[in-house]
Amino acid sequence: MRTFSDRALSIQPTGVRKMFDLAGDDVISFGLGEPDFQPPKQAIEAFYNAMLEGHNKYTTTAGLPKLREKIAQSWNDYQTGMGADNVCITMSGTNALLNIFLTIVNPGDNVLLPEPYFPLYGPDVSISGGEALYYPCKFEHEFIPQVDELEQLVDENTVAILYNFPSNPTGGTLNKLQRDELLEFAKKHDLWIISDEVYDRIVFEGKHVSFMGTNYHKTLLVNSFSKTFAMTGWRIGYIISTNLEAMNQIIKMQYYITACSNDAMQYAVLEAMNEASDYPDEIANEFKERCELIVERLNSMPGVECHKPKGAIYVFPRIKVEGFNSEELALEILKDGVLCSPGSAFGPSGEGHLRFAYTISKDEISRGMDKLERTLKRLNSK
Ligand SMILES: Cc1ncc(COP(=O)(O)O)c(C=O)c1O
Repeated sequence: MRTFSDRALSIQPTGVRKMFDLAGDDVISFGLGEPDFQPPKQAIEAFYNAMLEGHNKYTTTAGLPKLREKIAQSWNDYQTGMGADNVCITMSGTNALLNIFLTIVNPGDNVLLPEPYFPLYGPDVSISGGEALYYPCKFEHEFIPQVDELEQLVDENTVAILYNFPSNPTGGTLNKLQRDELLEFAKKHDLWIISDEVYDRIVFEGKHVSFMGTNYHKTLLVNSFSKTFAMTGWRIGYIISTNLEAMNQIIKMQYYITACSNDAMQYAVLEAMNEASDYPDEIANEFKERCELIVERLNSMPGVECHKPKGAIYVFPRIKVEGFNSEELALEILKDGVLCSPGSAFGPSGEGHLRFAYTISKDEISRGMDKLERTLKRLNSK
């Protein structure tokens, strides 16, 4: 008897939530990758007002032209000449990713994905009928992929490569030289670049390095307002590309996935972009201070090595405790009241690492690190 699709049966629930489900209410949580701030007040008010004004209907599939135009302009420093037609508003980065994979992947194709990874990528590729080929982002290389390793994986069925900088879970960021090498690799093999840049506004040193503005016509950029304006629960993001042919296909696909994004919310995001334009920098400054604190604390503990990320909201230290894999270690740490994610939840090479999201106050971070220090001491003295 036929029951469910092979597609549904082939995907597994994400391991990231597992620890979360085991945690009590009183833990210090480094678990969730969402900013612990509220969206700008102007956006909340604009949302409410837009609903009162009757913006409660379907919008065009690609979204409110004024918002799309504003988003296109916001990339002017990287790429001039884009307008509303280059943008499709989506119901989150998550929605944007699936939309892109469904648009460019055929059965039998494969897609190069980073590992450790944001857990949606692989299942998205398989839902689209393709195969995920994982390329390593190693601690030794500050989590930046190496072209020689990519060359060993790519084959005639590879249609795209996904880059994610700043990265979840590693916090890895690129410099321009590294970006150009990865760009050349994609060009050489005629691959689509899917660039997941949802953390583009949370960078700590200089300007974000983007794949936008490189004049490579097969670049599709995914972004989201979840992190930029602390709107994870609102579910709104976008796809932007200089490639209008690709945008037309993506917008067509978008119609069949969700018809359009949320009407009133698009006015709210426009208001945030116009009236709270400093907000992303303010939260980035706070994340930078937290990042410095947590990295310093982690590196002071025996057996712990942690790179100092230049963006996003995560650290991904290497932590060695004899006799414990990363999941067992995360469980021991949880017993002492601290929630973090085992590195293995982000792919096999995450083994030996833990992910800490610094989405809690500096005081909480300090208290959490005190507890972690005691747990590691206890385990190491066994
Ligand atoms: C790397 C990365 N991409 C995409 C997303 C999706 O964000 P959203 O669906 O909230 O827009 C996330 C969320 O954590 C992420 O970390």
